[in-house]
Amino acid sequence: MTHFRTLEWTGSALRLLDQRRLPTETVYLDLGDAPEVAEAIRTMVVRGAPAIGAAAAYGLALAAQRAPAERLLDALEEAAEVLRRSRPTAVNLFWAIQRVMDKVHANHALDADALRALVLSEAHAIAEEDVAVNKRIAQHGQSLVPDGATIIHHCNTGSLATVDYGTALGVIRYAHEIGKRIHVYLDETRPRLQGAKLSAWELNQLGVPHTVIVDGASGFVMRRHKVDLCIVGADRIAANGDTANKIGTYNLALVARAHGVPFYVAAPTSTIDLSIRSGDEIPIEERGADEVACVGATRVVPEGSPVLNYAFDVTPAHLITAIITEAGVVYPPYEEGLARAVRSRSEAR
Ligand code: MRU
Repeated sequence: MTHFRTLEWTGSALRLLDQRRLPTETVYLDLGDAPEVAEAIRTMVVRGAPAIGAAAAYGLALAAQRAPAERLLDALEEAAEVLRRSRPTAVNLFWAIQRVMDKVHANHALDADALRALVLSEAHAIAEEDVAVNKRIAQHGQSLVPDGATIIHHCNTGSLATVDYGTALGVIRYAHEIGKRIHVYLDETRPRLQGAKLSAWELNQLGVPHTVIVDGASGFVMRRHKVDLCIVGADRIAANGDTANKIGTYNLALVARAHGVPFYVAAPTSTIDLSIRSGDEIPIEERGADEVACVGATRVVPEGSPVLNYAFDVTPAHLITAIITEAGVVYPPYEEGLARAVRSRSEAR
């Protein structure tokens, strides 16, 4: 069992495991207000679509706690805006903020203490549901993971990227837990190395057999070794199934298609954005040049050479074999199945 917690409510603060320091140091930070949470999301103390959604919900709980009664609603609107500006691509962030604010608007007549308690309980609900949803994704995913499978995974989609358990890495972890003999190739995931640092850290603790490869190795690994499937997470899935995920995902999907390897996306329905038709409309975050130009503290790109640092890319739906959600496995064409999966979530609440 993993013995860490990505995020935790202490009663007066949001405690975050500082993912920038892993795997060498385990450091927790206690955050006391919404701007601090927004900054922690921006700087990737906490990262991964479901985890940043839950963190933002607790950011609103902090804002409610700190605001005087007469300013409570205004303070919540302001905090929601600050949190929305932290990172643009993962729709779970906007989904979680909207879910809390819908609750606030529907109950605005409550007194301040009742409203504060309501915001906190909604944040707790988002966090708890995330863990349950991930376990359902893990179970649905098993029909796609044969015993003895060799799997390629990109980025980090495990406990660290969620409140607990994980999405794509949850499917992998569950396969191992129920006794399937699997082996996982972990893309290192340049430039921030979520695969090499975070996924390897998690699979190490869980005892899941794995090997770290550089991102550019996946094609040759598929040629040289038997690879049965690729599985990745998602930051935003458009209504047509186009999927934004960590930069390099699209390349992996193309390589998988070239080798006839199935390519799966695992994500909660909170990652599906039916308001946008295709991946062309997904806002893609660009991050600072130093993430690419420097390896650790050393600059490796010559001064004066420009860098383009897209944090995410979009994999077109036609390269995705299936999308695993908590409502079941959705196959192409995706429009109807994704809409049904989202409906089943709202009906369940
Ligand atoms: O920039 P990051 O580390 O937040 O990107 C994370 C990813 O791209 C994950 O694959 C995605 O958020 C799904 S996590 C369950």
